[in-house]
Amino acid sequence: MSAAITFVQGDITRERVDAIVNAANSSLLGGGGVDGAIHRRGGPAVLAECRALRASRYGRGLPTGRAVATTAGELDARWVIHTVGPVWSASEDRSELLASCYRESLRVADELGARTVAFPAISTGVYRWPLDDAARIALRAVRETETAVEEARFVLFDARAYTAFSTQPA
Ligand code: APR
Repeated sequence: MSAAITFVQGDITRERVDAIVNAANSSLLGGGGVDGAIHRRGGPAVLAECRALRASRYGRGLPTGRAVATTAGELDARWVIHTVGPVWSASEDRSELLASCYRESLRVADELGARTVAFPAISTGVYRWPLDDAARIALRAVRETETAVEEARFVLFDARAYTAFSTQPA
């Protein structure tokens, strides 16, 4: 069974779900955009667990397309699932890596027993992936993934992103 897909325009750090997906970078040590917002509102507990992951399983950082969970700290969620999106490239097709972010986040959510998961528009900010193409890849990946997650809630920060995602053909 795949997750039911919903769309919301807003700030992902205000969502009340089991898991919030972070558009992280491989260092797992924070950044701007979603990453910065999640660490700001999640508080030091999130970074502490990220550092522990770097000191143990991910000494060289989290590879692009992979996902790992930490506590959600002060956020209205139980977990943050950090995933590293690919930087957009005009010369290299990295679509599979972007799709992997969604598949792997759902796989981690299943391991946790999360039933509701909030996703940002991964790679469409600093990593410059064109919104429409990112939306097409994201929705196809979620629709094709068997999961016990009941709701995959795409939380789009602005009207342009909301339109790009919510008007994708089924
Ligand atoms: N809630 C929901 N969406 C948000 C929020 C928020 N609070 N803040 C930003 N966004 C949107 C952006 O508008 C964009 O559409 O999330 C999408 C992803 O943008 P980024 O956060 O820049 O993530 P990404 O493009 O994947 O780049 C990741 O940016 O912040 C750094 O540390 C991060 O190096 C990593 C890189």
